[in-house]
Amino acid sequence: MGIKDTVKLSNGVEMPRLGFGVWQVKDGEEAVNSVKWAIETGYISIDTAAAYRNEEGVGQAIRESGKPRDELFITTKLWNADQGYASTLEAFETSLSKLGLDYVDLYLIHWPVEGKFKETWRAFEKLYQEKKVRAIGVCNFHEHHLKELMEDAEISPMVNQIELHPLLSQEPLRAFCKEHDIIVEAWSPLGSGQLLQHAGLQEIADRYGKSVAQIILRWDLQHGIVTIPKSVHKERIQQNADLYDFELRAEDMAAIDALNQDERTGPDPDNFNF
Ligand code: A2P
Repeated sequence: MGIKDTVKLSNGVEMPRLGFGVWQVKDGEEAVNSVKWAIETGYISIDTAAAYRNEEGVGQAIRESGKPRDELFITTKLWNADQGYASTLEAFETSLSKLGLDYVDLYLIHWPVEGKFKETWRAFEKLYQEKKVRAIGVCNFHEHHLKELMEDAEISPMVNQIELHPLLSQEPLRAFCKEHDIIVEAWSPLGSGQLLQHAGLQEIADRYGKSVAQIILRWDLQHGIVTIPKSVHKERIQQNADLYDFELRAEDMAAIDALNQDERTGPDPDNFNF
């Protein structure tokens, strides 16, 4: 296992198992620096969104990193207000131009806007068929949203990016996704940082001589969950990728599994108002 490890999506595209998330990273210097540090560290995958308002900084960092485009895996997301067929196609072009790219590796529907997401998906299928995106997927979809989408989709979503961490382990949804060949990706893998003070996790971390962040990220990887920690600090960006010289024992994996409380830090996808 290593930082360049990938998982195969249902269409054969290889997606890195570890990525760098930029939610709450400010556009400009903060985004440019942190993405450049991530790429220097060896991260291949960068996860942004139109709603994060930092696609320009991400794009600048990609160019300044000097990395060949085809060695990176770039994800962005369609914002809720842009759902609908024509508006999705337009919003996609805006994201591409902000990023300064001519394709993205993964394009995701950010939230399941009722009454809109099926029409939006038809635009995603068109972008995929036109090879403007290498893979398409969704975020924040419950099982019932996925079922509704797949009812008459030509192409099934390849990824579902959801809030997932030890207090919200999402086991039933993970099982459903596995059955349908949908890769699960964790947003806020560190519980937006709130889990880093957890006494039980700290005790495990101390035994391995690792940080709580590293324990959680290793738990993700050993479960086959794609994970995208965020940090704007170089040493943390490096630490969050330093996950490959230890392995959590089965009893520690089970102890972390047992922390689940179905506790969200963000909104429930059945009840959001944006
Ligand atoms: P910062 O960006 O100031 O480093 P999540 O990925 O779950 O959203 O969590 C991100 C939060 O956790 C951010 O507040 C980030 O702060 C903090 N963070 C990320 N990695 C680490 C780490 N290795 N040690 C401590 N805090 C971290």
